[in-house]
Amino acid sequence: GDTVETTFRVANLTANRLCQNQVISAVNGTLPGPALTVKEGDTVIVHVINNSPYNVTIHWHGVFQRLTQWADGPEFVTQCPIRPGGNYTYRFNLTGQVGTLWWHAHSQWLRATVHGALIIRPRDGQNYPFAQPDLEDTIMLGEWWNADPNDVENAALANGSAPANADAYTINGWPGDLFNSCQSISNNTYRLNVAPGQTILLRIINVALNNQFFFKIANHSFTVVAIDAAYTNPYQTDVIVIGPGQTTDVLLTANQSQGLYYMAAHPYVSAVLPILNTNITTAILVYPNATQTTPILPDLPAFNDTPTAHTFLTNLTALTTSPFWSPVPQTVDENMFITFGLGLSDCGANLSCGGLFFERMAASMNNLSFALPTSVSILEAFYRNISGVYTTDFPDQPPTVFDYTNISNSFDQNLLMTNKSTSLKRLRFNSTVQIVLQNTALIGVENHPMHLHGFNFYVLAQGFGNYDAANATSMFNMVNPQERNTLGVPVGGWAVIRFRANNPGVWFFHCHLEVHLPWGLGMAFLVENGGTPESTLPPPPADFPQC
Ligand code: C2O
Repeated sequence: GDTVETTFRVANLTANRLCQNQVISAVNGTLPGPALTVKEGDTVIVHVINNSPYNVTIHWHGVFQRLTQWADGPEFVTQCPIRPGGNYTYRFNLTGQVGTLWWHAHSQWLRATVHGALIIRPRDGQNYPFAQPDLEDTIMLGEWWNADPNDVENAALANGSAPANADAYTINGWPGDLFNSCQSISNNTYRLNVAPGQTILLRIINVALNNQFFFKIANHSFTVVAIDAAYTNPYQTDVIVIGPGQTTDVLLTANQSQGLYYMAAHPYVSAVLPILNTNITTAILVYPNATQTTPILPDLPAFNDTPTAHTFLTNLTALTTSPFWSPVPQTVDENMFITFGLGLSDCGANLSCGGLFFERMAASMNNLSFALPTSVSILEAFYRNISGVYTTDFPDQPPTVFDYTNISNSFDQNLLMTNKSTSLKRLRFNSTVQIVLQNTALIGVENHPMHLHGFNFYVLAQGFGNYDAANATSMFNMVNPQERNTLGVPVGGWAVIRFRANNPGVWFFHCHLEVHLPWGLGMAFLVENGGTPESTLPPPPADFPQC
């Protein structure tokens, strides 16, 4: 492959949205940041220079990082942050996946504005497993705050409550004109120009911190061809559902002869919580010779339309003729059952400090609320055998078994109390892992987008309510299950995933709703070295940031 080398300069940018100027952090002065476009097999070198006032790291979301884990990026998991004034060069290659991924800051809430697309095309001499599109474009669904997102996070953490929702949703950085009065249609709205009859490969990325989205285009439908840079069997739909971290590649046929059509998105809200901002974000699909001046608006599903979301998310299957497909491992070395959801912390044993909920929100996996170290990254502690930074006693089963999804007011309040830890699950190199993920309903239920660094996993089955092994096993798709790096586990439900731990290092597994991450909704896998040079983590690069 070729080498693609570039520089990312992170610095303050004054951006005008919703009638006001706001100072944000941005890469190379743009929102969204620059797209990285590569071919499968290429080597990527990105020099990150931090001219911002914040600590920064960059994560290459969905990249396998085989033996390059020093470039993975999650702050204090694999690396210490790049301090203001500092720099670090990320080097990795993109082998074994084609489609759309993205990059984002993995430090505090910076990724609200520090993000961009990572586009991987087939290597020379190879093609997409579908007709070559006439046009390609990227649609990033995001959020905008009339504030510095790090301030929003810090305020929420300081009072232990849920943070403010975004002030607007965005497409490619713009709220769109429709429900945001300061945006005029002529500018500040993303437009995609097409000609009748063209086929467009649309790369849809959810770059938002805290919202899943429904996405539609008026009078048009889609054929899904890839998710999370893994090919799928072609799937026809007129609505896309996408959670933070996920990508969906669709073919769009420009089947109209003329006119203006809104592309529109609004949140899919699975939690029973007040929706704070119900605005729709829009962009415009523009044909030549439009006679009307007002674009046609699609009919989005209701905010809480879980059946539509579930149908879309469960109907996707892997394309097993893809050159990158490998069959599902038939045997499992590590069977895990992980409960996850929201809870409380720092409140003493029985809520005496605050009375009701929201004294201090926390979240956990198997009742452990993940705490990041501050003096050294977990990966470096593993590599250098530094003790006291993490433990490897993450439990394979939850500490308490109860009816996870039917919680009455009289449940044992101690269940809410999470324990802080930096507890990892140790895996032998190349072992196969199956995880049952079970959403608990202690403080509400919600569709949580769970993201695993460093691997795609197979989604064998998913459903609502309590996981029931006797029934679920017969539902397992062992033939062509979708492969993802981020899975929205059904609200108040469960999912079963499987992966092969064929990459040594420390791999973060966490909820990609950014609000849940500082509350502790994460854990990490420590994959041991395998004993050959091809299965042993090399030393860190010379410029690796220190804490
Ligand atoms: Cu896209 Cu750990 O993140």
